[in-house]
Amino acid sequence: MLTKTNSPNVTRQAPAKLNLFLHINGRRADGYHLLQSVFVRIDWCDTLHFERTTDGCITRADLSNETGKPLPKVDLSVRAAIALQAKTGVTDGAHIKLEKRIPSEAGMGGGSSDAATTLLALNELWQTGLSLDQLVAIGMTLGADVPFFLYQVDAWVEGIGEKISPIDLSKLPIASRFVVVKPPSGVSTPSVFASPVLARNTKTATIEGFAAWTESNASQQYLEPFGCNDLQPVALSICPDIQTALEWFEAQGLIGRMTGSGSAVFAPIPDTYALTTAPSLPAGWFCRICSRITP
Ligand code: C5P
Repeated sequence: MLTKTNSPNVTRQAPAKLNLFLHINGRRADGYHLLQSVFVRIDWCDTLHFERTTDGCITRADLSNETGKPLPKVDLSVRAAIALQAKTGVTDGAHIKLEKRIPSEAGMGGGSSDAATTLLALNELWQTGLSLDQLVAIGMTLGADVPFFLYQVDAWVEGIGEKISPIDLSKLPIASRFVVVKPPSGVSTPSVFASPVLARNTKTATIEGFAAWTESNASQQYLEPFGCNDLQPVALSICPDIQTALEWFEAQGLIGRMTGSGSAVFAPIPDTYALTTAPSLPAGWFCRICSRITP
């Protein structure tokens, strides 16, 4: 049940995601790729403030931007608002104030999370009454990762990103903290998916197989994770900084893995891990310890 509000303003956090693994199992006739992945939300968040207006206009002001890259005027939050207006015929408008922290071209889903957060918030503010399924249908037109963020749960994700099965990671020995590194250079998602050398034939896995592997490798959880990220070899060839990131992890005895189509790289860490003892990174790199968002 989606909540309703009478207040003209709401503020929401839009979390980033990590792909614990990402397999490409095939390609559809329309060019989109069939994938399997476990998506988790982490506490590296954008903050969005929404104000309902009566003029029908959608406007955005960037209160802050820590990413070092300006956003396009019509970013995914504005596009989401326009799409919801078009679908519902609502005559209200909205002013969105954004505190941008999630880097772009990182594989962390920042734009998709902003879009999902906008759909959920404005569906409340405008009292448009769409169901989650209806919001997911709009979300899919904005980006393949948007449905995941609309569900607001950790998930086993399939199809091209629209088949979401909630997964209860509290029952599995999955790390709750990660160190996430984002080089200054980014990777364009379409260029990775379009690569002629991308492997698209990974065997289909199951949630049960993932859970069983995780349980039988519990003592390994800070080392070799389940599966792999099939997009990583292609992204590495486009963005050599990813190799530097992987080596930074290796120097600490950690196995880094790219999230999404990169260029951010992450590794699970034990509670004792501290960045103060980690090797330094070149200027302009982002590095954060993040926690999974638990329900
Ligand atoms: O949907 P999104 O904007 O995240 O995807 C960017 C591009 O990545 C798509 O236009 C498509 O070329 C490619 N993609 C894909 N298969 C997916 C997701 C994305 O081929 N499952």
